[in-house]
Amino acid sequence: MYENPRLVIDSSNPPEPGHIVWRSPSNIAIVKYWGKYGNQLPRNPSLSLTLASSFTDTRLEYAFRETAGNDIELEFLFHQEENEKFQAKTLAFLESLGSIFPFLKQLKLSVHTGNSFPHSAGIASSASSMSALALCLCSLEDALFGTLQDPDAFDRKASFIARLGSGSACRSIFPHAAVWGETSSVAGSSNEYAVPVADMVHDVFRDIHDDILIVSSDEKAVSSRAGHALMDGNPYADTRYAQARRRLDNLIGAMRSGDLQTFGKIAEDEALTLHALMMCSNPSYLLMHPGTVAIIEKVRAYRADTGHPVYFTLDAGPNVHLLYPGDIIHDVRAFIEDSLKMHCENGHVQEDWVGEGPEEM
Ligand code: PMV
Repeated sequence: MYENPRLVIDSSNPPEPGHIVWRSPSNIAIVKYWGKYGNQLPRNPSLSLTLASSFTDTRLEYAFRETAGNDIELEFLFHQEENEKFQAKTLAFLESLGSIFPFLKQLKLSVHTGNSFPHSAGIASSASSMSALALCLCSLEDALFGTLQDPDAFDRKASFIARLGSGSACRSIFPHAAVWGETSSVAGSSNEYAVPVADMVHDVFRDIHDDILIVSSDEKAVSSRAGHALMDGNPYADTRYAQARRRLDNLIGAMRSGDLQTFGKIAEDEALTLHALMMCSNPSYLLMHPGTVAIIEKVRAYRADTGHPVYFTLDAGPNVHLLYPGDIIHDVRAFIEDSLKMHCENGHVQEDWVGEGPEEM
């Protein structure tokens, strides 16, 4: 879609060396993306809230290479240190973008990146890291060729590129909330990139907190790549995709009208569906820990006792995201302190909330 052989630097007029820095947040899906086809295209539309305190900072430095190679020249540091795994992942990603950004092979590139949360905290970093890198690449294209001056075109391309790195990363480009995947509920929605939906949703959803209860920081038992692939043989796959589409329509309706209860019900149903799908995949994965289940039961009891709109969601792992509106923060923080922290590894809670989206630094 974005292949462009004209994005080549004129070697008689090389650019000065420069750098670009972007901070990009993670996001938490309410309707989940689980199952894909082709080149990172989703089987169903998803909607996420953009977070604020869990982010990646990425600095991309570039200098013209006197003799362009057939490969990408990349120096890579993660938290100021070499990291072979991330370097290889980044290099493979940049190599895969050769026909979209042909100028990359004409440059010496250096990527320095780091997260606001500890690497092994059990918080997925692919959404924040891939969106930050995609934003740097689009800024680089614009700095060299002036081709992405229109902010909407810039965001759309950044979202498209982020998606190629990690599907869910395409939603991190936008403030507050984003939808990725074709749906008649959102005009202009696409499987190729996410679109912003903040303007469509009630103000209450600008002030949602997401306190992430770290039950275990262990490496994921199943990579998302393998997880998505398992959906291809899952006997419930087609029913699931239809369900996700219905839930997305209902969620958009609830978010337009400010209906927190329906929002929370869908968030919880989606979390449990995601885990149920993994449990009935072949091989089967059970990603909840006893602490996960204990937290879920306590959240339900707390809601019944207090009437407070506090809901949980889960990613593909044991950690629990606690979602609630800002006006009950004092009560909820006391509840976490007294009743939930005991289930967290070293009492670790990453406090997050709905944020304003990426920032160029
Ligand atoms: O973006 P990926 O390929 O890592 O997949 C992420 C899938 C979930 O986090 C489980 C759900 C979602 O929509 O973010």
